[in-house]
Amino acid sequence: MYKVGMVGAGNITKAYYRAFKKFEDIIEVKAVCDKLLDRAESYAKTYKAAVYPDYNEMAQKEDLDIAIICLPHGLHADAAETFAAKGVNILIEKPMANTVEECDRIISLAKRNNVKLMIGHLQRYFSYNKQIKKIIDSGELGELVMITDRRTVNYFTEERPKWFLDKKLAGGGIVMNYGAHSLDKICWLTGRDVEDISGHMSQHIPGISVEGDAQILLRLEGGLTALIAYAGYKLPYCNELNIFFTKGTIRSDSKNVWVSSCGGDYRLLEPEGESDPFVPMIDDFIKSIKDGSEVAVGGEYGKRIIQIIEKFYALQKSGK
Ligand SMILES: NC(=O)c1ccc[n+]([C@@H]2O[C@H](COP(=O)([O-])OP(=O)(O)OC[C@H]3O[C@@H](n4cnc5c(N)ncnc54)[C@H](O)[C@@H]3O)[C@@H](O)[C@H]2O)c1
Repeated sequence: MYKVGMVGAGNITKAYYRAFKKFEDIIEVKAVCDKLLDRAESYAKTYKAAVYPDYNEMAQKEDLDIAIICLPHGLHADAAETFAAKGVNILIEKPMANTVEECDRIISLAKRNNVKLMIGHLQRYFSYNKQIKKIIDSGELGELVMITDRRTVNYFTEERPKWFLDKKLAGGGIVMNYGAHSLDKICWLTGRDVEDISGHMSQHIPGISVEGDAQILLRLEGGLTALIAYAGYKLPYCNELNIFFTKGTIRSDSKNVWVSSCGGDYRLLEPEGESDPFVPMIDDFIKSIKDGSEVAVGGEYGKRIIQIIEKFYALQKSGK
């Protein structure tokens, strides 16, 4: 059995718990930490796990194999270092941390203590993204020409945990939070790194310091361009990816995938594979611990995503 400690018992922890049902034979949650103890207690019940308000105490007292860090972004580095120093393998929710400097600290401590470090970049584990990647890699639609990735969502609601609006804890607004997903999706699907980034971001709600919208233009290797557009105001939900090739196009609403070939009508693909992305992600992490292989999404990849976001924020600050 792998002894797991959940660090943070908020919204995303629910998704891990749902997935753990598929790992009942190999995963046991031994401890749950949240500064709001009643949250930790509500998750701890299922496994009769210990609860802690402080992750330092949890790291000291528990003998864990895995710590899953589901905290505000600004705490990822400190928590990851705490568990790595105790020889515990770590899975960190996206984004890896707020800065490249924090990512470097996590990477070096994980190396020094010989623990596995995986970042919860999920996009490759969504079954619809796997279908899209298969089509891209087959070359059947010709050459990749351009990508648009658009998300509109009512971001600034009462339900959103307040730390997401605090720059120190969140690292930024919609770009830090969703940019981590879009960059992961675009880089993984195309197998290309980002060569250049430009664009603009702003905030239209008085009194909020983190950005609420952005248009980001990426130039990827091979001259491919991608436009990412986010607007986080009172808008209907939309999360739509369009990929244009020389002989067709793919559209996805982050659930379904449609393909059009040579100017023909869009054809809806039959869904295939596991629909919960947390199941294959956890499975990959466990495999890497079990057989000593490389993790599927390592620290350097997580850091690269932060490097790109950091560059975008620096451009905004400089007004270029
Ligand atoms: N993969 C995804 O699609 C996805 C979706 C949502 C969130 N996330 C990521 O998951 C992480 C957590 O986000 P969330 O939505 O669950 O946030 P959340 O606010 O719901 O949960 C965070 C929890 O951390 C606790 N906490 C804060 N400071 C603490 C401290 N010092 N010690 C102990 N506990 C503390 C809070 O009380 C809260 O319960 C973030 O990195 C976020 O970006 C990923």
